[in-house]
Amino acid sequence: MMKTLIVYYSLEGNTRFIAEAVAKCVNGDILELKPEKDVPSKGFLKFVLGGKQVIFKECPKLKTLQKSIEDYDMIFLGSPVWAGTFTPAFNTLFSKKKIENKKIALFCCYGGQSGKIFGNFRNHLTKSTVVGEIGFKEPLKNDKELNKSRAEKWAKNIMNKL
Ligand SMILES: Cc1cc2nc3c(=O)[nH]c(=O)nc-3n(C[C@H](O)[C@H](O)[C@H](O)COP(=O)(O)O)c2cc1C
Repeated sequence: MMKTLIVYYSLEGNTRFIAEAVAKCVNGDILELKPEKDVPSKGFLKFVLGGKQVIFKECPKLKTLQKSIEDYDMIFLGSPVWAGTFTPAFNTLFSKKKIENKKIALFCCYGGQSGKIFGNFRNHLTKSTVVGEIGFKEPLKNDKELNKSRAEKWAKNIMNKL
């Protein structure tokens, strides 16, 4: 039996919304990356502090991971786009965990454009096989249900092809 894990970070809930839809649809477990001290989720300061973390490639200390990636074969990785790339919580993950010999599917949520997020993810996943990628434009604000069913179709399709 293929074991599936959905790993995500979300500041404002969009990526969580997609992660939970995918997890339910593929019968996967969830691992949320939670910085011990995160940027504020409201106001302009989040852009300043979040952007700074990306630019300086910071690795925020994460709360203890509740699942171990090694135990899974198929991993979905989901992140918001921050300053054109994945969120700093993934810097921490990639610095601590080798992700090798896995099937990986990538998803992101963005406000304007997905930027370089998928290419940058792939650069950290060269020892695994990336089997899919998809972006969602702020699903909590735009066509929530449509985005949910897009996510479900995408995830099912990936699982069927494995
Ligand atoms: C610090 C920060 C930087 C962001 N940078 C970008 C960006 O470069 N491009 C973009 O399209 N959206 C950007 N956004 C918008 C988020 O990607 C978008 O709102 C996303 O849906 C948030 O996901 P979440 O609700 O899971 O946190 C940024 C948001 C924050 C907080």
